[in-house]
Amino acid sequence: MKYTLNDKYLDLWKAAFQYQDTRNDKGHAYIVSLYAQDICEQEKCNPDIVVPSAILHDIGWSKLPLEERMSVFKYGVPQKERTRIREKHQKESVSLARGILNDVGHEKEYVEEILEIVSQHDTRTGFISDNEGAMRDADKLWRFDDYGFLNDNQNSGLPFDIEISYLEKKLADEGFLYFNSTKAKAQQLLRNLKAKYLN
Ligand SMILES: [Fe+2]
Ligand SMILES: [Fe+2]
Repeated sequence: MKYTLNDKYLDLWKAAFQYQDTRNDKGHAYIVSLYAQDICEQEKCNPDIVVPSAILHDIGWSKLPLEERMSVFKYGVPQKERTRIREKHQKESVSLARGILNDVGHEKEYVEEILEIVSQHDTRTGFISDNEGAMRDADKLWRFDDYGFLNDNQNSGLPFDIEISYLEKKLADEGFLYFNSTKAKAQQLLRNLKAKYLN
């Protein structure tokens, strides 16, 4: 995987930067964008749709109060409330993203598809396209990435073995990831996590 984002997306990255990673998850937007870029090199999807969607998907969290933002990590928060909060961040992301894409002059023909992907990236059942699957796979790979795993773990406070068994269960669900190549990548990352953090 390349560890640098294509310069083509630099203006977009800069414009969105002030809204990124507001859930004690520094690095989330960048790492998800790198995975998105990587998936686009392996699969037939459009990087000019997938990478901007990845850059912009979570910027809406910045518009929610801190307590609400962090509550989705907490145990005991009812599912209905989690969904309400998730829908709120998606809505805010779309509204911020529309302005940013317009400001940086991103290709007009891609804007609506990007916003559609962002609009339900956390709550949609099933996948609607290769581009959408690519962005959502990239978002999920964060959890299996060494840095992302430690970052999520610092928010959950769970013992490593429990956190890892949770990831294993997710991965066993056929509909969790879209591309077979992403499934293979997640399996490889999971093996690395087990080797490093169990025993
Ligand atoms: Fe999100
Ligand atoms: Fe995300």
